[in-house]
Amino acid sequence: MGLVLLILALMASGAACDRYHPERTVSETATLRNAAEANAQYWINDAQAGIERRLRFTPRASDNHARNVVMFMGDGMSVPTLAAARTLLGQRRGQTGEEAQLSFEQFPTVGLSKTYCVSSQVADSSCSATAYLCGVKANQGTLGVSAAVPRHNCTASLETANRVQSIAEWALADGRDAGIVTTTRMTHASPAGVYAKVANRHWESDADVTSAGHDITLCPDIAHQLIHLPPGNQMKVLLAGGRREFIPTSTVDEEGFSGRRTDGRNLIEEWQSDKRARNVTYNYVWNRSQLMDVFNSPPEYLLGLFESNHMQYNLEADPTTEPTLAELTEVAIRSLSRNDRGFFLFVEGGRIDHAHHDNYPHLALDETLAMNEAVARATELLDEKDSLIVVTADHAHVMSFNGYSPRGQDILGTNNDLDLDGVPYMTLSYTNGPGRRAQRADGVRVDVTQDANFRALRWRTHVNVPLEEETHGGDDVAVFARGPHHEMFSGLYEQSHIPHRMAYAACIGPGLHACSAAHSLRGSLLAAMPLLALALHTLLGHS
Ligand SMILES: *[C@@H]1O[C@H](CO)[C@@H](O)[C@H](O)[C@H]1NC(C)=O
Ligand SMILES: *[C@@H]1O[C@H](CO)[C@@H](O)[C@H](O)[C@H]1NC(C)=O
Ligand SMILES: *[C@@H]1O[C@H](CO)[C@@H](O)[C@H](O)[C@H]1NC(C)=O
Ligand SMILES: [Zn+2]
Repeated sequence: MGLVLLILALMASGAACDRYHPERTVSETATLRNAAEANAQYWINDAQAGIERRLRFTPRASDNHARNVVMFMGDGMSVPTLAAARTLLGQRRGQTGEEAQLSFEQFPTVGLSKTYCVSSQVADSSCSATAYLCGVKANQGTLGVSAAVPRHNCTASLETANRVQSIAEWALADGRDAGIVTTTRMTHASPAGVYAKVANRHWESDADVTSAGHDITLCPDIAHQLIHLPPGNQMKVLLAGGRREFIPTSTVDEEGFSGRRTDGRNLIEEWQSDKRARNVTYNYVWNRSQLMDVFNSPPEYLLGLFESNHMQYNLEADPTTEPTLAELTEVAIRSLSRNDRGFFLFVEGGRIDHAHHDNYPHLALDETLAMNEAVARATELLDEKDSLIVVTADHAHVMSFNGYSPRGQDILGTNNDLDLDGVPYMTLSYTNGPGRRAQRADGVRVDVTQDANFRALRWRTHVNVPLEEETHGGDDVAVFARGPHHEMFSGLYEQSHIPHRMAYAACIGPGLHACSAAHSLRGSLLAAMPLLALALHTLLGHS
C-alpha cells in the first residue's frame, strides 16, 4: 500500500513538473489571431477538406505519362528550412505564419530521400546531383560518373563504363528538349550534374583543370563540356550566373568583371558561332531587359548569364538588371513548351545553400521563398495531366528551429525564453559555422540581441561549433510531386531513385515502364487491325 502511494506521489510530482517540457507563463491565447482555431470544428472541417483534396488527386494519378518533367531543387533546402520559410511567408502576410503553405506543400504526394553518397555520410552538391539526376550514387565531389571514379582521377572518369547519363540525356534521346535554370554559376555542382562528366566539381574552367595537373584535351573543364559536348550543346535554354568561367582572364564582361579562362577562349562567343553554323535562331543575354525582350517569343536557343559569379541574393539584387527565379523559370517553360514531344527542365534555387553556409538565415529563407514562387509559376503554366513537377533538395543543413515560443512568434527573432543565465536566444540558430561569439570571462553567453547590426540581412545568429562555413546536414530531405505518377514519390527511398521514378513517369530512359503498357495496348490494337478488316471484308463479302 505504502509503495503504491509512493509511486503515485512520484507520478504526480513528475506530471506537475516535467523538466523536459516546462510550462510557460505566456498567455497562449494572447497571440492567437485566428479565433476560429479555438473551435474543434475548425480542425475537423480542415481535416475533412484534406480528405476531399486527396480523393480528387488519387484517381487520375496514373492515367497519363508525363510529357514534361520539371525538377525544382532547393540546394540545402532542409525540412527545418521549409518549416521556417513557410512561417516567414505567413508572417509577411500579417498572419501567425505556422499555418501557411508553400506552393508545393499543396502537391498531392510527398516522400523522403536519403542523401548520403558512396564515399560520404553527408552529401555534397555534386555526388547528390549525380544521384538525383543520373540515378547513381557516387563519390563526394564527382559529377556524372560512378563511384568507380575516385575524386580528382581524370583517367578513371574517361572510362565509358564509369560515365553515367542524366535524365536530360534520356529526354533528348527521346526527341524531347532540355534546359537548365539556376541562381548559381552555370558550372556549379548542381546544374553541372545535368550535363558534365567530371572527376572534380571544382574543374569549372580550364584554369582549374590545368592547375590540378591534368590535360584539358583529355578532361575538359565543365564550361567547355557545356558549350561543346552533348548534352550541353543540345540544350535549348540555359539561364544562370557565372560568366567568368566562359571568358578569358584578358576579357572583361559587360559588367566590368574579368574571366577566369587561361586558354584564351571565349565560350560565350563559341556558343553563338555554333548556333550560327547550325542555322538556328539564338540569343545571348546578360541582363533582365534583354531577357524580357525575348520573353514572349524566345529564340530556338537561349543562353543567359546574368552575373560574373553567382546571381545576387533575391533580397539584395537590383530588380532592373537581374531577373527573378520565377521569371527565368517562365521563359524556360515558354521556350521548351514548343516541342510537342515534351521536355525536361532543371530549376535550382541554388543560393539557399550559400546563405546557410554563411549563417544568414533570413537570406536562406527568402531564397527558399523565391524558389517557392518559381514553383507556383510553373504550376500555373503546366497542366498536371501531362506535366510532372518534382520539388526536392540535395541535402540538409544544420540550422535548427528551436524553443517553445508562442504561436506567431517572429520566426527571425528571439525565442520567448531565456537561457539559464537569463540571456536570450534565437529561434533559428546553427549547430556550427561562422559567427560564433567569443566566450565571456564569466562563461555566460553573449547576448546577441545587443549586436550593433542585430537583425540586419547579413547579421549572423549564434552557433555552437566555430567553423569557417556552416556544414551540410545528413538528414533526409523531402520530395514533393504533382502530375502524372506523382504517387511514385511517396515513401522513403535512396536519392538515386528519383530520376528513375521521373523517367518512369515520363517514359524515357532506362525501363520505359509507364508507357510500355500503353504502347503494348496500342501495339496490339494496330496488330489486330488487318485481322479486323479481313473479318469485316469476309463478313460483308458473304452478305
Ligand atoms: C586513377 O584510376 C585509374 C583507373 O582508371 C587507376 O589505374 C589509377 O591508379 C588511378 N589513379 C590514382 C592516382 O588513384
Ligand atoms: C537557314 O534557315 C532558314 C530558316 O529556317 C532557311 O530559310 C535557310 O534556307 C537556311 N539556310 C541554310 C544554309 O540551311
Ligand atoms: C542590358 O543590355 C543591353 C544590351 O547590351 C544594354 O543596351 C542595356 O543598357 C542593358 N541594361 C541594363 C539595365 O544594364
Ligand atoms: Zn553547400
